[in-house]
Amino acid sequence: MIPITRPYIGDEEEAAAIAVLRSGWLTQGPKVAEFEAAFAEYVGADHAIAVANCTVALHLALRALDVGPGDEIICPTLTFIATANAVVYCGATPVLVDVDGATYNIDPDAVAAAITPRTRAILAVHQLGLPADLERLHALANRRGIVLVEDAACAAGARYHGTRIGRPHGALACFSFHPRKSITTGEGGMITTGDAALAARVRRLRQHGMSLSDLDRHRGSTVQFESYPEIGFNYRMTDLQGAVGVEQLRKLDGVLTRRRALAHRYSAALAGVPHLTTPIEPAGLEHPFQSYMVRVSPTAPLGRDALMARLLAEGIATRRGVMCIHREAPYRKLLGDVFLPTAERVSDEGLILPLYAQMTDAEQRTVIAALAAALGSHP
Ligand SMILES: Cc1ncc(COP(=O)(O)O)c(C=O)c1O
Repeated sequence: MIPITRPYIGDEEEAAAIAVLRSGWLTQGPKVAEFEAAFAEYVGADHAIAVANCTVALHLALRALDVGPGDEIICPTLTFIATANAVVYCGATPVLVDVDGATYNIDPDAVAAAITPRTRAILAVHQLGLPADLERLHALANRRGIVLVEDAACAAGARYHGTRIGRPHGALACFSFHPRKSITTGEGGMITTGDAALAARVRRLRQHGMSLSDLDRHRGSTVQFESYPEIGFNYRMTDLQGAVGVEQLRKLDGVLTRRRALAHRYSAALAGVPHLTTPIEPAGLEHPFQSYMVRVSPTAPLGRDALMARLLAEGIATRRGVMCIHREAPYRKLLGDVFLPTAERVSDEGLILPLYAQMTDAEQRTVIAALAAALGSHP
């Protein structure tokens, strides 16, 4: 079976996790702090705050901006449901907009058209890791006095005109370390920002709103009492995850080099296969290919879903492309009938192919040949 993905975990992660188990300090502690410092340096941000996953990272980012009832947050519909859920957790309203048909990223014109006096923020998603049009979104946000937040769940290591995503272009950027991502801590997330006050607030909110971390109290030589200036959450990352994250981050550049080589080879081999559209990488952007998604034309001899079944029967796992949030029941109830044609088309036609750093050339050739044969072509 050729899986859709496979975490790239080695002896280093194993040894790091064992060392934490033996250390006596398991929850958020020195290893989380080390992971935060390394991640901040890697992306070029002043502050990085580790949390339990990217969903809570998005929630905290919006809470730290005091997003609440009555506020509108503009985000793309073509994204994982967690993007909009984080808005709903704050009691705010997600305003779902369409995407660009070539990059699949949020369409700045659609954002401009959706801004109202209630708009507090644009929550831009870097689709499958490909950076959104930050320059236009940033200019729009500045002009209209609203905040830009980045859902960078899939974008660790992505580059935007020479700078890494996370460097913050917007106020805050949120990353995921779920096992489907290029590097993983099992579950995990990170928030980066250049704003010291926002960073301090996020740090406090992630641990019950406490004024003092467990580690600081543990290390202190005098008795210290914490206070709780506001209601917070338990969104901490454990030191087990932090230790794995430190090792994973060391491997990220190597993992991305391999993923990008595999992705470019897919694109070259599949370019001539009829009924398939391969992903683009606009000049100045470096796509980490958290997922490699092609589109299957509705005129293909096999529809997308039938193609997935045929590939599975041949031992090749695939996944449908990115979902449309507005078509899911809770959002139909919340937002009523919404029609966002580009996102719907991309979602219906999207097919994610196997991609992982350990993928062998032979495995990739098998996927390419099976896909081409199913669509009546022999590249
Ligand atoms: C765009 C996007 N946002 C948010 C998330 C949520 O991340 P996590 O699983 O770490 O909570 C994901 C996860 O796949 C995602 O793809």
